[in-house]
Amino acid sequence: MGTSIPQPIVAFLILSAIVTVLLVPSASGSSSSAHEKFIHCLSTHASPSHPISTAIFTPRNTSYSTVLQNYIRNLRFNTSTTPKPFLIVTALHESHVRAAILCGQKYDLQMKIRSGGHDYEGTSYVASVPFFVLDMFNLRECREEQNSWVPAGVCPTVGVGGHFGGAGYGNMMRKYGLTVDNIVDAKMVDVKGRILDRKSMGEDLFWAITGR
Ligand SMILES: Cc1cc2nc3c(=O)[nH]c(=O)nc-3n(C[C@H](O)[C@H](O)[C@H](O)COP(=O)(O)OP(=O)(O)OC[C@H]3O[C@@H](n4cnc5c(N)ncnc54)[C@H](O)[C@@H]3O)c2cc1C
Ligand SMILES: *[C@@H]1O[C@H](CO)[C@@H](O)[C@H](O)[C@H]1NC(C)=O
Ligand SMILES: *[C@@H]1O[C@H](CO)[C@@H](O)[C@H](O)[C@H]1NC(C)=O
Repeated sequence: MGTSIPQPIVAFLILSAIVTVLLVPSASGSSSSAHEKFIHCLSTHASPSHPISTAIFTPRNTSYSTVLQNYIRNLRFNTSTTPKPFLIVTALHESHVRAAILCGQKYDLQMKIRSGGHDYEGTSYVASVPFFVLDMFNLRECREEQNSWVPAGVCPTVGVGGHFGGAGYGNMMRKYGLTVDNIVDAKMVDVKGRILDRKSMGEDLFWAITGR
């Protein structure tokens, strides 16, 4: 290493600038039918070529616990009393992110976005109110321009979301800076469900989402 100068990387990042406040029906009967409506909404918003059904996990799916636990990195939150999401969307396509944002708003549901699950407070997968998780572990493509080094954090399982949202302090930072210093483009889904890249979001927003 050492001699090649890293080229800027092209990163694939989906961020949502959404903060939802929630009001969830308290009776269990009405909340389960609300959940069914929410699932139906997700299906109708997913791209027809990328069905969302294989990306939806509720406590009734046998792999729900495994999917949830896989990215709980702070074991203080890996307990039976930790609040659990009523649903996890393991997005496989950008239209699934869009569906989660649009349907979460429509039904006033709290959404938590999880990338690598490394934040110490569990903010990406725990909430004090009923919530669902948009899990981004499948969307972690990171393309380099040319065969070069990408500065990153020390821990290999930190996700794309965390790295590009401001982390990425690592062994190469003295020479090359942080991961965020090397991002040349990003994709995000805004609150209206528009999928934007650097050009369409504009430099101000690009600056803001890359944590600089
Ligand atoms: C043991 C340990 C070692 C660490 N070492 C380093 C290190 O060497 N260098 C370093 O730089 N950092 C380090 N960190 C810090 C780590 O990089 C940050 O906590 C980072 O934010 C984690 O990213 P993540 O994708 O895994 O986190 P997550 O927990 O998935 O997400 C972090 C926050 O970003 C939000 N988020 C995640 N993805 C998205 C997205 N796609 N769109 C919008 N919001 C999103 C989440 O909701 C959450 O609030 C370390 C952390 C731990 C626990
Ligand atoms: C979880 O269960 C629901 C309802 O049975 C089903 O539609 C969905 O496809 C299942 N999810 C996965 C990932 O198999
Ligand atoms: C989290 O808890 C489950 C049991 O509830 C256990 O099977 C799993 O190994 C735990 N995860 C870790 C990383 O320890």
